[in-house]
Amino acid sequence: MIIVGCSHGKHISHKIAKKLKQKHSYMITGRFPDGELYIKFNASVKNKIVVLVQSFYGDVSDCIVEAILAAETASGLGAKKITLAAPYFPYLRQDRRFHSGEAISQSIVAGLIDKYFDAVCIMDPHLHRKNKLENIFKIRAKKLTANSLIADYIKKHIKNPVIIGPDEESHKWARDVAEMLGVESRILRKKRYSSYHVEIKLNKKIDLKGKNVVIVDDIVSTGHTILETAKILKRLGAKKIYCICVANNALEKLRKVGIKVVSTNTIPNKVDKIDVSGVLSKSL
Ligand code: R5P
Repeated sequence: MIIVGCSHGKHISHKIAKKLKQKHSYMITGRFPDGELYIKFNASVKNKIVVLVQSFYGDVSDCIVEAILAAETASGLGAKKITLAAPYFPYLRQDRRFHSGEAISQSIVAGLIDKYFDAVCIMDPHLHRKNKLENIFKIRAKKLTANSLIADYIKKHIKNPVIIGPDEESHKWARDVAEMLGVESRILRKKRYSSYHVEIKLNKKIDLKGKNVVIVDDIVSTGHTILETAKILKRLGAKKIYCICVANNALEKLRKVGIKVVSTNTIPNKVDKIDVSGVLSKSL
């Protein structure tokens, strides 16, 4: 087996290889003057099980093209099997045509992965109506979660926590983590009007006076879900507000209002204190 860190998987691929005691190599990547991507394997993949590690953040489309170029190249160079290990995988939200004329991007992107890979492992995939990866991919697909790592982090660092899920979908993370810790939790309700406008409501009263409150969610995108949730928690008397998430894109906005943010390292960032390389390596 060889673990190969693609351009957006380098922060974690070496850790996965070390845990598995397998050979590791970084993909050489670059750009042609017109912006096209260039990739080159830096080690032999012939007759090997090749694990390509790519986290699809930032320029997501380039990340996808790079993974496809890498998989097809590995195949051409004689790889025995090609697995995609994705700390963060995109395009899972648009799982149907909400308005006429829209692309069902989830199945189109999954179709590309099916075509070029033999297997895929995804950390905490953001699933809605189709809630199993087997219903999305044709190849062997494993859904992994950082929940036990999040629970461990809270246990070690936050005294007497109350866990809050900001919306119905967050119960997969928040409720699970609260159950692992055996602590009180609430799942709030969210209405989204646009990307930057959400309304959060508390459905059942909870006294948070003097409590350490931890909002647990998968993705923090614009940060508005967490900001609106924090407003309610402050009104209810929360002493300290933490946000622990799988993938974080709005760190500074949350920090500005005093929220202490911690995330996994699915997407590298300044507060990625929870390392998911162990979960990924066990799945390979
Ligand atoms: C939604 O279902 C997700 O779990 C997150 O709550 C959402 O992606 C957060 O988005 P934003 O930070 O833009 O409010």
